[in-house]
Amino acid sequence: MEQYIIKGGNALKGEVNIAGAKNAALGILAGAMLTDETVIIENLPDVSDINAFIQAMQSIGCMVEHIDRNTIRVNAIAIDTTEVSESQMRKIRASYYMIGALTGKYHRSRVVLPGGCKIGTRPIDQHIKGFRALGATVDVKGGIVSTEADKLKGTDIYLDVVSVGATINIMLAAVLAEGKTIIENAAKEPHVVDIANFLNSMGANIKGAGTDTIRIRGVEKLHGTTYSVIPDQIEAGTFMFASAITGGNVLIKNVIPKHLESISAKLIEMGCEVYEYDDSVRVVSNGRLRKTNIKTLPYPGFPTDMQPQGAIALSMAEGTSIVTESIFENRFKYVDELTRMGAQVKVEGNVAIIEGVEKLSGANISAPDLRAGAALVIAALAAEGFSTIEDIHYIERGYEDFPRKLQGLGALIEKVTEEKEVRKFKLRVG
Ligand code: UD1
Repeated sequence: MEQYIIKGGNALKGEVNIAGAKNAALGILAGAMLTDETVIIENLPDVSDINAFIQAMQSIGCMVEHIDRNTIRVNAIAIDTTEVSESQMRKIRASYYMIGALTGKYHRSRVVLPGGCKIGTRPIDQHIKGFRALGATVDVKGGIVSTEADKLKGTDIYLDVVSVGATINIMLAAVLAEGKTIIENAAKEPHVVDIANFLNSMGANIKGAGTDTIRIRGVEKLHGTTYSVIPDQIEAGTFMFASAITGGNVLIKNVIPKHLESISAKLIEMGCEVYEYDDSVRVVSNGRLRKTNIKTLPYPGFPTDMQPQGAIALSMAEGTSIVTESIFENRFKYVDELTRMGAQVKVEGNVAIIEGVEKLSGANISAPDLRAGAALVIAALAAEGFSTIEDIHYIERGYEDFPRKLQGLGALIEKVTEEKEVRKFKLRVG
């Protein structure tokens, strides 16, 4: 019965350090398999999605050793199969990066179809279109994607939807292809840029990452490197909203403020003060938030992975707000749980209409997915009384030491495994 027990009502205060970006790290791990030389990856977040991906790498013979908690040494020379049947892979979305990396290096792969959060249908047709355009045959049968090619040849690929996963996957497959690949309508997210920078540090020739046209000139071989993953934009944004919603004053450290601009802009519209420094941001709130509207969009727009945190803050803001989800079709599953805490939210299709209430009250709730789970934790931190959050394994997929970091800011939260610990917590915090 692993769960978080929370007593809400404390304004968060202090400093918090942000971990490396999970979604960048997943692509970097896959990219590290493109060379037989040793790659050192620093600032790797210690979260279950990363650990599942590492296990899958090890299951095909890739050597991965921890130098310390957040640094690993990878060597792919001993990979002896391109079949990834690891059951772990079904749980994480980024299992699809195995397809790009293995097809790029070995011209074949057999990988179980990706899992991840159930926030929409999440097709991978654009990834497949890219691999086919590069010259691979791709077959999807019985939940397994198989690819095969004599050789990969650079080409022009236009993405019909702006897809982070397809952009990264095509980069992974194309860096060792013959000739030039151009990805049009590419995703511009910070982790696309980070993975391109990482691959370039291994000797790849990728230009234009961060714009909607990425140009890749294939090289024969990649070499080893030491690379530090960028800070996690979404973890940082989650703490920014946690400060806002609890009337807090939190310095969020080890971030790239530029990546947080759409989030900072919304917090300012909601009445918070946001101070940007070189590698940190401070969010100060008096706890009385104002209504605003949020629409999720590809970067540099407001991230879909911050939509639940934004909506939860607006559920306690003065006035009526509208939140439009334009990336995934099933991303309001947390609204039922939020309603049980006293929020007034009506969902119509991809739009949530939120009537702000003055206070939420604690409740026993479950995390429906990774980001909504984290958002419900911050709702509970602002709510009156006790809450328990179940299914925290979703949250642990993407947040390193979430309860410990929140405790460091004065939150009353604990991870418990037995009923008796719940009672102890309640006695202790009163
Ligand atoms: C990644 C992130 C996820 C984030 C999302 C959007 C990882 C591991 N996950 O997910 O946290 O919420 O970006 O920022 O990095 N689509 C297609 N066909 C495809 C691929 C995507 O139609 O082949 C659609 C999707 O259904 C969705 C949209 O494109 O509507 C964006 O998806 P995409 O950017 O690919 O998201 P993911 O890579 O799955």
